[in-house]
Amino acid sequence: MSDAKTFDQQVSDLNVVHVPWWKTGPIYQIFPRSFSDSSGDGVGDIRGIISKLDYLNNGSDTSLGVKAIWLSPIYVSPGRDAGYDVAEHTVIDSMFGTDEDFDELIAECKKRNIKVIMDMVLNHTSNMSPWFIDSRSGKTSAHRDWYIWSDPKRGGRPPNNWRSWFNGPAWTFDEDSQQFYMHTFHPEQPELNWRNPEVRAACINVMRFWLDRGVSGLRLDVCNVYFKHPDLLDNPRRLGTTVWNRQHHINSKNQPEFHGFLTDLRALLDSYPESMAVGEIFDGRVEVAASYCKKLHMAFNFDIAQQKKWHPRGFQTAISKWDNLLSDEDTWPCYFMSNHDMSRHSSRFGGEVGLDEADACAKVVAAMLFTLRGTPYVYYGEEIGMRDVEIPVDEQFDTGVVFGSRDPERTPMQWNSSSNAGFSSVTPWLRMALDFKNRNVELQESEPNSILNFYRQLSNLRSNSLALLLGNWRPLIRKPDKAMVYLREHQGKYALVALNFTNKKIRVKLDASLPVSQWLLSLSTCRPSDGNEERLEKSFELAPYEASIFGA
Ligand code: NOJ
Repeated sequence: MSDAKTFDQQVSDLNVVHVPWWKTGPIYQIFPRSFSDSSGDGVGDIRGIISKLDYLNNGSDTSLGVKAIWLSPIYVSPGRDAGYDVAEHTVIDSMFGTDEDFDELIAECKKRNIKVIMDMVLNHTSNMSPWFIDSRSGKTSAHRDWYIWSDPKRGGRPPNNWRSWFNGPAWTFDEDSQQFYMHTFHPEQPELNWRNPEVRAACINVMRFWLDRGVSGLRLDVCNVYFKHPDLLDNPRRLGTTVWNRQHHINSKNQPEFHGFLTDLRALLDSYPESMAVGEIFDGRVEVAASYCKKLHMAFNFDIAQQKKWHPRGFQTAISKWDNLLSDEDTWPCYFMSNHDMSRHSSRFGGEVGLDEADACAKVVAAMLFTLRGTPYVYYGEEIGMRDVEIPVDEQFDTGVVFGSRDPERTPMQWNSSSNAGFSSVTPWLRMALDFKNRNVELQESEPNSILNFYRQLSNLRSNSLALLLGNWRPLIRKPDKAMVYLREHQGKYALVALNFTNKKIRVKLDASLPVSQWLLSLSTCRPSDGNEERLEKSFELAPYEASIFGA
């Protein structure tokens, strides 16, 4: 360890080590309706996104250094599930722009080294998809077997006991043909029959279409649900607190055939240089998600994002498990804390510690997200600590979902304190946060200690540190109850991360064997960056909610 390298040396080492873009991150999730409206119709669009690309990555450390944007769906859709009900998989909805706009987005992203990831929603389609319209037209139609149709059971009951995640049974009766069709989500989202080779070929063609258009990554919506048991067997019952939890969904997802499809997918992706797929593994154990990760480049881990308690032990246990499961050379973890389907983490954890402390908490979360071994995903707005917005029932768009509307986490981005927060020149499609005048990008750009500036510093630090990019991850406190402290190490380069989860001062004592004397402060929420080198001590104090990173 005496050959510990300085930060400058690490930067020059980075020039010779090639790290694929998708391992570096951050990857920034855009919910296009809510990011930036250029056309003045109250809905975000592609040209709006183009106008904000410099904010995401302007090539210097004054931006977020985003390596890729993931666009939630922008395809033609009736909008029953905010675009996750696709009618035309290869056509951009005019609400978001034109083909030319999309080409320009790809070109402008390329100039800034930003890759584009498209959301592939291929488990189901909209009921307005031409495929489904034909399928529904009669039992002998060309596309009949593209969807999952089945006769009623005796007494006209649905074919089996499967449930919809949103509400009610997973089957809807079609009067005309006297059969049921299956749907894991809304009845307006009929399930494709992935056992039909024509469906698989059509889906691969959709993916190829977007890769040919210049996209570098695919996010696979609920991909572990594609295949169902061939005999549509009932799911076994179990004890549970919700209707959904009262069965083991073993026959309606995670079928062995999915592995075979992943092999085909990987062959497709390997024919496009440095392209990648990240899987949304729906309602699954993390072991199952990890089992797909030799072929998928990454899979989302919901156990970590959905930690109920603001406590370091729960996070550390879940992270250790994920890190261990994905420790082989050919697997790679990723981390996220918020997305378009769950309450924003500033609200979740802020609700627990008190909203006054939510911003301090948000910085601890950010420091964790950017310093774990794995790609960080950032959900638009979290970098300014955006929170859920209560949407009155009569203004909700996301309806009919038994666990509650997801509109609160989908509100318009808060760019500045002008009317409509600079998101749009007119009233936005969804009401915005009341606090936007005090919480917006412009304001936080001017505050050196803002959450936004901390995200920028973290991103810059991460992309210039081999220890943070590639190093292994080792927790230094076995059963943490106040702080999480961990080490990242890569070939003689180190980063030590200390995160105080409490609103009290605490003392951390490092193991005597750690040779920390050469390790200097790289970034901190609390320690002054007055130009003086601060060396790490074996025993040191952390201020309330302090997040500090030392490196060597
Ligand atoms: C997962 C998506 O993230 C969610 O928003 C959507 O409602 C379901 N898939 C159905 O497509």
